[in-house]
Amino acid sequence: MKFSSTSLLLILPMSTHVLGQNFADLCDNISLIEPYTLQADCLDGDGTHVQTSTIDLYACLGNANGMLKCLANGHFGESCRDCVLQDDTIFVCQCRNGHQQVARAFIDLNSCLNNGNGKLYC
Ligand SMILES: *[C@@H]1O[C@H](CO)[C@@H](O)[C@H](O)[C@H]1NC(C)=O
Repeated sequence: MKFSSTSLLLILPMSTHVLGQNFADLCDNISLIEPYTLQADCLDGDGTHVQTSTIDLYACLGNANGMLKCLANGHFGESCRDCVLQDDTIFVCQCRNGHQQVARAFIDLNSCLNNGNGKLYC
């Protein structure tokens, strides 16, 4: 089978847009201030002003059969606990799966969170 170069060019920019929000590129002092609340100091669009922003991860993450996923209003905290942040962006919890077993789950928050003009959102 042959793919034309035109169709490849159409596909690549779309996947670049969907993957990797990379909020951490322009944010510093990233930490959990409450079990499910992340805080960071983030640069705004023109790169000159820093503002402290917080985001409720309940609104951003879900637990899909024991795996953490980016999911709007995912309410992962109802079935995950003991969450910690590692290396600034790796969020690690103990999550329950469909068999009622609890196991380690993690997600790179760079794939879920955005920095919109200094404010975190998902
Ligand atoms: C990070 O925190 C330190 C210590 O509070 C502060 O001096 C620094 O300005 C913060 N970084 C940003 C980008 O705000």
